[in-house]
Amino acid sequence: MKELSQKVRAAKKSKIRELFDLASGKSDVISLGIGQPDFPTPEPAIQGNIEALKNGITRYAPTRGVPELLELIEKKLKKDNGLNTSWKENIILCNGGSNAITLAFASLFNPGDELILSSPNFVSYFYCSSFFGIKAIEIERNSDFSPNIENIRNSISKKTKAILINSPNNPTGYALSKKEFEEIMELVLENDLYLISDEVYENYIYDDLKHISPASYEEMFERTITINAMSKLFSATGFRLGYVTASKEIIDLMEKYLQYTIAGTNHAAQYGFIEALKMDVSFFDEILKKFNERRLFVYDRLKEIGFGVVKPRGAFYIMPSIRDFQISSHEFSMKMIKEKGVALVPGDIFGSYSDDKLRISYATTMDKLKEAMHRIEDFIKEL
Ligand SMILES: Cc1ncc(COP(=O)(O)O)c(C=O)c1O
Repeated sequence: MKELSQKVRAAKKSKIRELFDLASGKSDVISLGIGQPDFPTPEPAIQGNIEALKNGITRYAPTRGVPELLELIEKKLKKDNGLNTSWKENIILCNGGSNAITLAFASLFNPGDELILSSPNFVSYFYCSSFFGIKAIEIERNSDFSPNIENIRNSISKKTKAILINSPNNPTGYALSKKEFEEIMELVLENDLYLISDEVYENYIYDDLKHISPASYEEMFERTITINAMSKLFSATGFRLGYVTASKEIIDLMEKYLQYTIAGTNHAAQYGFIEALKMDVSFFDEILKKFNERRLFVYDRLKEIGFGVVKPRGAFYIMPSIRDFQISSHEFSMKMIKEKGVALVPGDIFGSYSDDKLRISYATTMDKLKEAMHRIEDFIKEL
């Protein structure tokens, strides 16, 4: 038989799925592995979806999305992100933030082009880059997970097409300061690059830090692709709805790509998203308060147990260092789930600079977090 796709075969199977497989069937396992919020999807989103199905919304949707939804997204972008868009030209709906990443890659890059990103970073960026023949240039983050702007600057070459940022970040929990945003934007402008800004965690930000959308800077709009999704704000990862904001030229390319690959997104779910966007976003205030308590608890406990740990500034992840324990991240997480029933994600899946780290998601109840920290503490004592 002839050889199957090298690019796809070279991608490792998701370690997160592997962990779930190990955990399945064991009732006592606590998962700190999953990247989705634990609160229920708001009722209006669910009802909107159900009503749409009952009303016969069961056929193809317009490729770019239902106009009423795009108009609401336009308003949201203006109000929350300071973006001046036209829903007819600058917004396209897609299948979650994940699909938004492939749309960005499909529309911007030619094989051999280089994409600069800080590492550790979200796992899909690396594999999707290779699927599109893009050379991902990983710049190791500073020890507090801030981007190393100087090294980013020095790695820009003639082949560099874009810089990718994800703030607040998965897996580090880092959120860029205004100064860092502006330094990166300056690099983009000086070197005639594009900026891909993945903002799916924009609402999960702590300590009075403010999220910034680079596309809100006038000179950046034409060269920024902004990625967002319904998934994290509305705890609706299964709706599979995301959206991209960019220049008309880029969105037109994305529409073509989407047409031939996905042919639009789930039609009825879009009506659920419409109802979700009509909600007052203050519904999230109490939820964020809870996430903040969890963040501080997990940070304090990990420090107490003896991990090297950086206090996260956003998202719902923390990335402790296991350097002092003389064990690889893979071995740590496999042993941890087998011996103590706690699922943690090994750092090595998030790029080349995190085999000495773990990713912990604190999107679970305080009771479970307390028990998990207790088990982790026992595990470390027995190491
Ligand atoms: C940084 C980042 N971008 C994009 C996504 C994809 O989001 P979605 O579930 O909407 O596809 C995720 C999911 O965890 C993520 O962490």
